[in-house]
Formats: sequence, structure tokens, C-alpha cells
Amino acid sequence: MSGGFSHVPVLRDEAVSMLAPRDGGVYLDGTFGGGGYSAAMLEAASCTVWAIDRDPAAIARGASLAARYPDRLHLVEGRFGDLLDLLRDRGVMALDGAVFDFGVSSYQIDDPARGFSFRADGPLDMRMGAAGPTAADIVNTCAEAELADILFHFGEERASRRIAAAIVRRRALQPFETTADLAAVIRTVVRPDRSGIDPATRSFQALRIEVNQELAE
Ligand SMILES: C[S@@+](CC[C@H](N)C(=O)[O-])C[C@H]1O[C@@H](n2cnc3c(N)ncnc32)[C@H](O)[C@@H]1O
Repeated sequence: MSGGFSHVPVLRDEAVSMLAPRDGGVYLDGTFGGGGYSAAMLEAASCTVWAIDRDPAAIARGASLAARYPDRLHLVEGRFGDLLDLLRDRGVMALDGAVFDFGVSSYQIDDPARGFSFRADGPLDMRMGAAGPTAADIVNTCAEAELADILFHFGEERASRRIAAAIVRRRALQPFETTADLAAVIRTVVRPDRSGIDPATRSFQALRIEVNQELAE
């Protein structure tokens, strides 16, 4: 592939071969991201793809792919939880198949300005869409017990209470603004284990799930 769609997403080939797009078929890509799944479907058959993503940057990036497949790729900014309304509003009443590739895209993770990662410092944001509270809003305002619950349930973080207490202690002195800042505080209370995984990883996953209400769709 070319034109900015060179990243091969996980399980793309498996998902598209199971879908087996056919000429004239109408398909949904519920998580457009970098467009790898959509591009593979459009290549596999002379079909139409409706592609949803809640991230305006993903939809904007998809314009070049849509231009390569005139009238065959339709990009829709929105949440897949609303897909019935999103499709019905556009006159799509039936689909021949759908794919979803849940989670966060490499475009989102790799852009420090989006605040998903502590590998490069950036604002503590983590929103896939344009609206709603950021990760900074959550760590700076949530009650300690609620924070601990988020870290435990969405990150399976056994040190959730210790981390929540450290966050609350620190934010009383200075609110969190950046990813590196939060990761550094987490590392003061969680030791690295032999896995080599950064001690902040589980907490960042938990906050991302909470910020984007990923389990509520
Ligand atoms: C793992 S990436 C998808 C990668 C894609 N399959 C590709 O080929 O590049 C997940 C994408 O789903 C989007 N997403 C996550 N939750 C969503 C939701 N509830 N509604 C719509 N899009 C969502 C994210 O913004 C992200 O772009």
C-alpha cells in the first residue's frame, strides 16, 4: 500500500479474509484508524465501505484514501456505539459485513500531543475524540477511592490504592499537566518488575479506558 497507509494493522489480513468482501457489497469499518482495514476491503472487491472513527484526525487523514476510491469509501466521524443512527441517517439500511479493531491506533499513541504515552512527554490528554474530560481532568479532580477503582478495574493494577494516594498527595501541591509528570509519580510508588514493563503502563491504560469510556459502547 502507499499514500500514507503503509502501516499494516494487527489481524488485518485475517479479518478481511473472514469478511470475504464481494463486488457490490456494503461493509462497515467501525474503527477506521489509519484506514488499513478499509483499504484492504476496498482492494479485495469492488465494494462500498462506510468507515466510522470518533477521532477527527483519523477522519481527516482518511480523505486521501477516500479520493483513491471515489464513491466507495464514506468516512463518518462518530462513535461505533451510535452506528445504527449514523448509518440510517445516511440511508444505509443493511450491511453485508462489519469489522472492528478496538483500542488505540499507532497514530494516536505515537503523537506526543495526544497524551496517550509517557514515552515522549506531552499534555495529559488521552481523548480519542474532541470532547469530554481529559486524563488530566480525571487525575486532578477524581476522589482518591474513585481513582483507585479506575486503576484497579481498567488497568488490573494491584498497586491502585498506593498510586491513587500518591496522585492525590502530589496534586495538592501542583496539578498534573503532562504524561511524563504522571509517569514519574507512579514510578515513585511502583517498582519495576522483571517483565521490563514500565510501572506506569497499567495506569495509563486504565486512564485511557476511563477517558474514552471504552467499555460503555
Ligand atoms: C486500533 S485503531 C484501528 C486501526 C485500523 N484498523 C487500521 O487499519 O488502521 C482503533 C481506532 O478506533 C477508534 N475508536 C476507538 N473507540 C471508538 C469508538 N467508540 N467509536 C469510533 N471509533 C473508535 C480510535 O480512534 C482508533 O482510530
